[in-house]
Amino acid sequence: MSTTRFLTGITTTGTPHLGNFVGSIRPSVAASLTAGVQSFYFLADYHALIKCEDPVRIQRSTLEIAASWLAAGLNPEKVTFYRQSDIPEIPELTWLLTCVTGKGVLNRAHAYKASVDKNTAAGREQDDGVTAGLFMYPVLMGADILMFKAHKVPVGRDQIQHIEMARDMAASFNHLYGEHFVLPEAAIDEHVATLPGLDGRKMSKSYDNTIPLFSSRDQLKKLIGGILTDSRAPGEPKEVEGSALFQIYQAFATPAETEALRKAYADGIGWGDAKHTLFERVDQVIAPMRAQYEELIHNPARIEQTLLAGAERARALATPFIRELRSAVGLRSLAQTTAAAKPAKAAKAALPTFKQYREADGKFYFKFVDADGRLLLQSTGFDAPKEAGQAIARLQREGVGALAGQLAPVDGAADADVAAALAALAAQADAAA
Ligand code: TRP
Repeated sequence: MSTTRFLTGITTTGTPHLGNFVGSIRPSVAASLTAGVQSFYFLADYHALIKCEDPVRIQRSTLEIAASWLAAGLNPEKVTFYRQSDIPEIPELTWLLTCVTGKGVLNRAHAYKASVDKNTAAGREQDDGVTAGLFMYPVLMGADILMFKAHKVPVGRDQIQHIEMARDMAASFNHLYGEHFVLPEAAIDEHVATLPGLDGRKMSKSYDNTIPLFSSRDQLKKLIGGILTDSRAPGEPKEVEGSALFQIYQAFATPAETEALRKAYADGIGWGDAKHTLFERVDQVIAPMRAQYEELIHNPARIEQTLLAGAERARALATPFIRELRSAVGLRSLAQTTAAAKPAKAAKAALPTFKQYREADGKFYFKFVDADGRLLLQSTGFDAPKEAGQAIARLQREGVGALAGQLAPVDGAADADVAAALAALAAQADAAA
């Protein structure tokens, strides 16, 4: 059986909470135990620097996240578990990818665009307070993924665009320098719940509504006691829809237990009793891990060792791969003869390209990007890859007019640019014929 490689990163800026456990830690640990899967999980501490300027917090968060994943059952013998900043090949690859990434592509990254929009709305200069780190975030993330030839990248929906960008970087690099990278795909797990927080909104550090995964029993009880409920009295039937308490329970209990609580709601369970039921159920899951966590967190040197061992395994792949990539782009020893080198594909490189891909909605799409990676055309979804291919052929034969209704609007792409790019492709095809 061929193995699929999964890779994901966790930014080291916060303390893991129940939402992280349910949404990421628990499913990732479970996935790492599946046959035919190879997992790479890492602490994205270079990414943390983009949002956090507090060194103590970065260090503490790295420790807490590592201890949480290990306490939750991650087996560092089976999973390659490492810290991003222990792999110097990653910033090195970041530069190589920077040089094949269109600046315009990064201009369109959601996180950067959100900052620009906020500044514009407030009447400030558009890049006010935006670091080049934030702007480059997707390239660093691309290096994380491409370095280890990941096939699947489990992430939240907000990260899909970053995976697409990584895929485009890989395709551009491969086009220029030969097939070196695997094209990664986002893996979105539809079954994983998003947990509500204390106030009913999504549990998130930014809303300050979290329940830390490893609170003490007493703290956990107190926090659960603070979950927002309505004011119905004991004896009055209660709604499970929109009840944060019920949703959290569901994420920890068996289906049969969940049904029992649903019935108790209908029968008018008091909020105090419901909270007690939730507390005991969550604690039942967490208590065994808590002991492990306490032991780990008080033994940072052991975690450090685990991470360094993981980095060593990761570098066993990264070091030879970056050597290959350096040579591919021409960063080579002068003692090495260049005559034997394959002619560069550079002449071909300056061409626009069609990129075909599948989205989470199951449909097939293509886009047309110019030689600098700037988006020119974006298709709507097709039911089959063949239909997307036929649309591309029609476009090349008959021009943009032939695809009425099958193209989504792209801001900033002029008709003349599209026509010129199509003409450049046609000229290349003629020359090759
Ligand atoms: N950007 C990701 C997040 O905020 C974290 C991350 C960094 C990551 N590098 C990655 C995720 C590589 C997957 C793959 O959630």
